[in-house]
Amino acid sequence: MKIGLIDSGIGGLSVLHEAYHRLPGQEYLFFADVEHVPYGEKTPLQITGYMIENAQFLIDKGAEALVVACNTATSVAIKELRSRFSIPILGMEPAVKPAVEETEKKRIMVIATPVTIREDKLKSLLHRVDEEHRVDLLPMPRLVEFAEKEVFDGPEVEAYIRDQFRTFNKADYCALVLGCTHFNYFKPAFRDYFGAGTLLIDGNHGTVRHLADVLGLNINQQHTEVFFESYHNMLCQTKTEYYFSKKLINDEKTLEHLKRLHNRLEQVRNV
Ligand code: DGL
Repeated sequence: MKIGLIDSGIGGLSVLHEAYHRLPGQEYLFFADVEHVPYGEKTPLQITGYMIENAQFLIDKGAEALVVACNTATSVAIKELRSRFSIPILGMEPAVKPAVEETEKKRIMVIATPVTIREDKLKSLLHRVDEEHRVDLLPMPRLVEFAEKEVFDGPEVEAYIRDQFRTFNKADYCALVLGCTHFNYFKPAFRDYFGAGTLLIDGNHGTVRHLADVLGLNINQQHTEVFFESYHNMLCQTKTEYYFSKKLINDEKTLEHLKRLHNRLEQVRNV
């Protein structure tokens, strides 16, 4: 089965990486809309326009199902995409439900882009699942910028995280929900800030499980590591075409970059 995944940038790679673990036998088309990143600071109309084009592009390339591997694009464009295209289209939303179900009493912090935080989709999710009003919301748009520059650790990132959380008492939080796919790369920095007792929850596993259900595919339950020794290795093992805003990636430098990102995601998977 050919499955397309779309994000504004490299965040969606974290969903693809989870798919390599759980659905290793499938073919993938990965689309990073690097010409328009960040989506989190665009208007809903702009984002919807980009997403219609991106989806059409991947369908023309043979995608039989699409994952909108972006919480921001899901918030504003999922309905429009589903009304235009007839293949299965899955979206992503911050994993607030598992966070509420897996924890008790203490507070839950959801971090995402400004658009995701502003939109009704998240508000209605909170209305449904956050009965005890334990959830706080915080936009962290600069992490998208850092991620696109491949800066995941270090003084700038640490200072930004400290500054954004300064008005909250970190000891009050039992869970941090990563409501933007770009945020997966920063798990070590979040772990350092919050300490060992705070759960870091992302939506990737749930999304891939849902994808398997919708497409009637079997999930791989075995625990295997997905590290790549070289980009050749990555391309042979995974049957993936990578597109950066409609440009097929076949140059050594960018493939090497993608390989490094996959290895980073593997390294931080269980932080
Ligand atoms: N990765 C995206 C998300 O999950 C959005 C990042 C951006 O372009 O602002 O929301």
